Amino acid sequence: MMTNKPIVLVTRELPKAVEERLTRDFDARLNADDKIYSSEELIELAAGVTAIIPCHTEKLSAEVIQQLPDSVKAICSFSVGYDHIDLQAAKARNIIVTNTPDVLNDATAEISMLLLLGAARRAYEGENQIRTDSWADWGATFQLGKQVTGKKLGILGMGRVGQIMARRARGFDMEIHYFNRKRLAPELELGAIYHDSVEALLPHCEFLSIHCPATPETHHLINAERIALLPDNSVVINTARGAVVDDDALISALRSGKLFSAGLDVFNNEPNIDPRYKELDNTFLLPHIGSATEETRDQMGFRALDNLDAIIAGEEPKDRLI
Ligand code: DGY
Repeated sequence: MMTNKPIVLVTRELPKAVEERLTRDFDARLNADDKIYSSEELIELAAGVTAIIPCHTEKLSAEVIQQLPDSVKAICSFSVGYDHIDLQAAKARNIIVTNTPDVLNDATAEISMLLLLGAARRAYEGENQIRTDSWADWGATFQLGKQVTGKKLGILGMGRVGQIMARRARGFDMEIHYFNRKRLAPELELGAIYHDSVEALLPHCEFLSIHCPATPETHHLINAERIALLPDNSVVINTARGAVVDDDALISALRSGKLFSAGLDVFNNEPNIDPRYKELDNTFLLPHIGSATEETRDQMGFRALDNLDAIIAGEEPKDRLI
């Protein structure tokens, strides 16, 4: 059926309330099967569309963006991260790009805290023993973890999620240290101790929680040399992007006992992650669910649509990246 509504390509299945608003306001090309489109399919499906709403699972590389039809005026990503979109290529084609910051801060900090607690208290091993009927009995030296309360937490990237993580961790009396490209204003630091480089931060991290975006500068930032700067027996948590971590270095430190454990929600090459992580008992692994709550996913969708509405109305979208 022909309508005068702008055509919008939605690359993945989105929450019901978000799709309802999409079909009410737009001629929406939805993906009911939630199939992951290849680049070729995406380019083909974009014929005649005004906007694309992708997720981080679609790689909008320069090559893909260059082949998008001229009708595409906006890419309103259903994600806070935008490492899957080549912003310069979009700019060259006058395509506006937006993301969905803020609305997923709490949900992601919750998963960071879950990973921190789970990795420290060996949650995976404990649960696995129950599920495989291999739990012998209670023991005074059985399944000893690492206490969290009162320990030092280093936050790498004190942006929106990092600040909420700090707030949650204060509930466990943790001493907060951080590195951020820009030092926070004193009223936002709330006693957190600033370090002016990653190298200066790491020796203070009994727990290290990664919250920086994936950029060329942060690629494999956590490598063998920097892991060596962590105190022995520390715990690494990552809810940001897998690309910030060098898998070989992290796995080797987990195997050697340099690190006590790691809690990971994000990986290089998702969902085909490095299989060695699964062979280790001292990893607590989740399938990229940092923002996966019903409330947050609705809010992410509404935020993407608010941006799209603004662009279509010729106004400045709140979350313009380029
Ligand atoms: C984000 O929004 O960047 C999350 O990682 C989910 O894509």
